Amino acid sequence: MNIIITGASRGIGRETAKIFAANKENLIIVISRSKDKLFSLKTECSDKGAGKIIPLVTDLENIKKNEKMIYDFVIKHMKSVDILINNAGFLQNTLFSETSGDTAERTFNINFFAPAQLIKLLLPLMGKGKRSHVINISSMGAVQGSAKYPGLAYYSASKAAIANLTECLAEEYKEHNIAFNCLALGSANTEMFNEAFPGYKAAVTAQEMAILISDFAVKGQKYFNGKILPVSGSTP
Ligand SMILES: NC(=O)c1ccc[n+]([C@@H]2O[C@H](COP(=O)([O-])OP(=O)(O)OC[C@H]3O[C@@H](n4cnc5c(N)ncnc54)[C@H](OP(=O)(O)O)[C@@H]3O)[C@@H](O)[C@H]2O)c1
Repeated sequence: MNIIITGASRGIGRETAKIFAANKENLIIVISRSKDKLFSLKTECSDKGAGKIIPLVTDLENIKKNEKMIYDFVIKHMKSVDILINNAGFLQNTLFSETSGDTAERTFNINFFAPAQLIKLLLPLMGKGKRSHVINISSMGAVQGSAKYPGLAYYSASKAAIANLTECLAEEYKEHNIAFNCLALGSANTEMFNEAFPGYKAAVTAQEMAILISDFAVKGQKYFNGKILPVSGSTP
């Protein structure tokens, strides 16, 4: 399968890429800003002689400037896209009244506009033959009625925006052989989680979350389209 994962240098994205790389039939473009980490992922996976990891080093905050480069890179390596996982994310834990305009914009640029733009860019490569699956990674904080936490207003709002976009795109492209789903994640033990919530214990490891995401990415498009699925064992 041809797979693209954003935010694969660390955390959940990196673990997800590693799972896909265990299948030698997979070609995986991994995107983030950290060249060294993406290339160490490639080395780690190629040492195991499995699926091919192809690093694409770019800052998704500037996706508009890099659109052509990204598209040309993708079509150089794959003629179609089976799975796109919009996983890259930005979280700064700051009270609403203390959040600068730059941080607010950055949050929406990385968590909403970049994935939206990437989907738009790659749509011509999706739905060819096999049903493509776009997965947008959101957060439990974006789910209506879920527990909310001070300091996460812009982050949660940006994640709610990408969740809503998922529903809209599923409707707009329902005749195009592409499924759009959104996973609203609960806590996973990553650098983002530990930086935002020092001293708290996450519900699952990054690897455990990656198992769910990779499994859903391969099978979920048959059963779900336009769904926002909470991935959390806690109540409510
Ligand atoms: N961990 C949790 O508890 C939790 C809960 C709910 C939702 N989520 C969501 O799950 C996703 C993964 O989270 P995580 O905990 O694994 O986060 P993480 O450890 O902070 O990893 C975030 C990834 O996003 C990439 N990224 C950030 N800004 C970028 C940019 N401007 N351009 C390109 N790549 C960028 C980072 O790579 P570079 O720094 O190399 O660019 C990194 O690979 C995020 O969308 C997050 O919001 C996580």
